[in-house]
Amino acid sequence: MYKISKMKIFLLVCLILVLVFINACGDRGTKDNNIVIKDSDRDTNNVNVGSNDNKDDNENEVVGSNDSKDDEAVVETFLDENNVVTNVESIEVVVNKQRNLDEKYVPEDLVTLTDVPTCLANPEVNQLKKEAADALTDLFEKAKEELDIQLYARSGYRSYNTQVSLYNGYVTNHGQEAADTFSAKPGQSEHQTGLAMDITSETVNLQLTEDFGDTDEGKWINENSYKYGFIVRYPKGKESITGYMYEPWHIRYIGKELAKKVYESELTLDEYLFGE
Ligand code: DAL
Ligand code: ZN
Repeated sequence: MYKISKMKIFLLVCLILVLVFINACGDRGTKDNNIVIKDSDRDTNNVNVGSNDNKDDNENEVVGSNDSKDDEAVVETFLDENNVVTNVESIEVVVNKQRNLDEKYVPEDLVTLTDVPTCLANPEVNQLKKEAADALTDLFEKAKEELDIQLYARSGYRSYNTQVSLYNGYVTNHGQEAADTFSAKPGQSEHQTGLAMDITSETVNLQLTEDFGDTDEGKWINENSYKYGFIVRYPKGKESITGYMYEPWHIRYIGKELAKKVYESELTLDEYLFGE
């Protein structure tokens, strides 16, 4: 009797152990399952979230696309079907070998420079649009103040017809291929916008030469003119983009805000605005 009871107790203990074991396995399984499920969920979520994210991304992309479209809409090219620029009176107008001015275009608010030294007798080239003229005066004053350097304005506004004479003269003397590297064709010169000025100094005998870039004046202009709204429009190393040789003397007024951005981007104006 005693033996049977002992056996019963033993069997009972075994049964309890088996139950505990099964229970433990079940827990582990659930936990594992939970982990799996959790991971699966996470994966699924990730997928879903990913999907959602992707969807969001896609939506973002769509929005992005819309944004891009909007951006594209904002980054208006301002060109008509004949590649003539339409925002001619804007200080941000871009004129280059692909973007022309109408031959009849004359800026509406040209003023004669009175507060900066000039070089040439032709009164036409001693003009700029009012805002650019004021900015040039400021620029020249600051150059004098900061470095005690005197800058000279040599060639500002040029009419379409003046550009015709200049360009034809260069073609006659140098051939068209060479001329096209340093002179804009009529209708493609920034000088016709009244926003560009060729500047020089006595250190280069008031000439327009690459050496100007190595003078104190040229270096100061290169590093500081953006603060007054100007950029060096045809920089060294960007010839294949601008289509023109390095012109350290040709500065273009585009306003302080844009000039800072273009300067800091180290891009040309064409690249910065149009990725061209
Ligand atoms: N020298 C510049 C490119 C012009 O003729 O406008
Ligand atoms: Zn110029």
